[in-house]
Amino acid sequence: MTAAIYVDDVYKAFGKPDAERRLHLPWRAPASNGHSNGKNGHKPTVVAVDHVSFAVQPGEIFGVLGPNGSGKSTLIRLLSTLLLPDSGQIRIFGHDVDQEAMEVQRLINRVSVEASFFKKLSPMENLLYGARLYGLDGRETRAQVVVILTRLGLEDRAIRNPMEQMSRGMQQKVAIARALLSRPRILLLDEPTTGLDPRSKREVQAVVRELQQKEGTTILLTTHDMTEAENLCDRIAIMDRGKVVALDTPPNLRALVPGSNGTQPTLEDVFLELTGRQLVTEEE
Ligand SMILES: Nc1ncnc2c1ncn2[C@@H]1O[C@H](COP(=O)(O)OP(=O)(O)OP(=O)(O)O)[C@@H](O)[C@H]1O
Ligand SMILES: [Mg+2]
Repeated sequence: MTAAIYVDDVYKAFGKPDAERRLHLPWRAPASNGHSNGKNGHKPTVVAVDHVSFAVQPGEIFGVLGPNGSGKSTLIRLLSTLLLPDSGQIRIFGHDVDQEAMEVQRLINRVSVEASFFKKLSPMENLLYGARLYGLDGRETRAQVVVILTRLGLEDRAIRNPMEQMSRGMQQKVAIARALLSRPRILLLDEPTTGLDPRSKREVQAVVRELQQKEGTTILLTTHDMTEAENLCDRIAIMDRGKVVALDTPPNLRALVPGSNGTQPTLEDVFLELTGRQLVTEEE
């Protein structure tokens, strides 16, 4: 079976001032494999993704758990062709992100924490605008927008009010709804629930589960939230400083650490055991 996401020995470093030069643009310079390390007069670099390999199976919910700066967002941007790896290979349902970027873009969609909207416009208007970018038909899309937003728990009235009047949780749901319009086979969610209140968090998590169950969508999500990772993900890759330090099902990850006094180890304990450091969570 072809993996939904196949990542083989991927390395990505940023040269600080002009890190964004490697966007996938037709006129970009060919990717260089030289890793400058700040020595010998080279520009200092930040290694964001450090020789990472894993495969995600179709229909899986795959979590990437790690502290700030561990490389989660960079990984997502690499998977979605927004950045190219310096070395290594990424395939999305067999398509190479570098050689077949168009095919890859048809199969995936990404929701990031800083999703941007026209704030004065309503969710309906924002989604119709997004749909046009995908070349989707207006009337059909209008009906679909209502279906998707209602399923995400948005009331009919909210669908037609300006986005600026909505809570962050609601805006996040609209961001997910927009990504769903193109019916992606893979959904990449960069911290879909960070900063949401517990109820919105649960609603977003329910949507993720439903997508997997009803549509068979493959979902890769990043989070700092260990409870979320445990409850939602079939498998979790724990990242630290650009490296995957462990990758397994939640029960198998917990089994890496001996329980103390009869208590079950948490993923926090696992992270501490593997890295010697705390996985600092915020907003919990
Ligand atoms: N465009 C960029 N230019 C330079 N450095 C970058 C860029 N993007 C990310 N980095 C650096 O790469 C490393 C990994 O960043 P990344 O955003 O992938 O981490 P993250 O795990 O998503 O963190 P967070 O939990 O804070 O979102 C960090 O050291 C970051 O400063
Ligand atoms: Mg991030």
